[in-house]
Amino acid sequence: MKLLVCGGAGFIGSNFIRHILTAREDVQVINYDKLTYAGNLDNLAAVAENSRYRFVQGDISDAEAVDSVFAEHQPDAVVNFAAETHVDRSIHLGSREFVLTNVVGVQTLLDACRRHGTKKIVQISTDEVYGSLALDETRKFIETTPFAPNPPYAAAKAGGDLICRAYFQTFKVPVIVTHCSNNYGPYQFPEKLIPFSIFKALADEPVPIYGDGLYVRDWIHVLDHCRAIQAILERGSAGEVYNIGADNERANLDVVKMILAELGKPETLMEQVADRPGHDRRYAIDASKITRELGWRPNYTREKFADGLRETISWYRENTAWVEKLRKRQAEINAHIR
Ligand SMILES: NC(=O)c1ccc[n+]([C@@H]2O[C@H](COP(=O)([O-])OP(=O)(O)OC[C@H]3O[C@@H](n4cnc5c(N)ncnc54)[C@H](O)[C@@H]3O)[C@@H](O)[C@H]2O)c1
Repeated sequence: MKLLVCGGAGFIGSNFIRHILTAREDVQVINYDKLTYAGNLDNLAAVAENSRYRFVQGDISDAEAVDSVFAEHQPDAVVNFAAETHVDRSIHLGSREFVLTNVVGVQTLLDACRRHGTKKIVQISTDEVYGSLALDETRKFIETTPFAPNPPYAAAKAGGDLICRAYFQTFKVPVIVTHCSNNYGPYQFPEKLIPFSIFKALADEPVPIYGDGLYVRDWIHVLDHCRAIQAILERGSAGEVYNIGADNERANLDVVKMILAELGKPETLMEQVADRPGHDRRYAIDASKITRELGWRPNYTREKFADGLRETISWYRENTAWVEKLRKRQAEINAHIR
């Protein structure tokens, strides 16, 4: 099977490419990535020489470039990870790039799939499209929960998801949309909570906590997310939507405390800072559909979160060259974002 992976040089995409090349010996991967600040080919050093792997640099919203990749490689299936992904950037730097990639880029890929008769496309989306839950609410997000995105990032992702729905309803483009909760694991760009806090704590710098820190996220290990995408690619039905999560809700404050404890750093490193505008209070995913219909379940369950976090921290401690390079890149690009 020829698989076109878009955005494969980022955090989840690079984990997925390594995963699928190992799990499926019959799969060839073409990684199409623009290499924005978040794209990093070092993430794929382990597969760079693999004869079943190719890299092509390009933008998913560039119709001509996308068409020529489809024409040359004739992929059987597409998995799209490419996106502008950082909520704070969508708030503080403007949302134009978010709309161009997360909406127009998705529409451009769908057009190419339609023209070239691609058999399956998996659009990787986020639980943030569903909006925010109150801390005391018993309901979780299910696949039919109405969209209510709050930050521009989530609104742009929701726009991409709706274009997918329209292309399935109107043109029968065989697209599947996934809504996954917050991922953690190796190779994550250090603008996101867990690697950001690890980087800060390792440098003995203050670890910022937004507002009261009681913002709840539903953490899933990136390798469990990759296994879920593989299950969807192999057994998911066109036009369906699947939620992916590991039933692992944690307050940000508790996660940062776990990181500090693991690194042997004092909790006095935590520093309360001004809150993110419109900060979503809580996300919680009901993933029973994918378990019931495709037989997927997480290996890193809630009980194993401490193990997953410990392994993740060890990875960042051991990969010092990767960390140093990313620390420099982050300092350049995030200098003007709080
Ligand atoms: N990280 C999470 O916790 C999480 C949770 C749920 C869903 N998601 C979704 O998963 C996907 C991957 O997230 P991530 O955390 O790996 O992101 P990331 O920011 O680490 O990587 C994004 C990748 O997309 C590439 N890219 C950006 N714009 C592009 C464009 N126009 N054309 C081609 N490539 C482009 C970047 O170069 C980068 O390699 C995203 O769609 C995101 O919305 C992420």
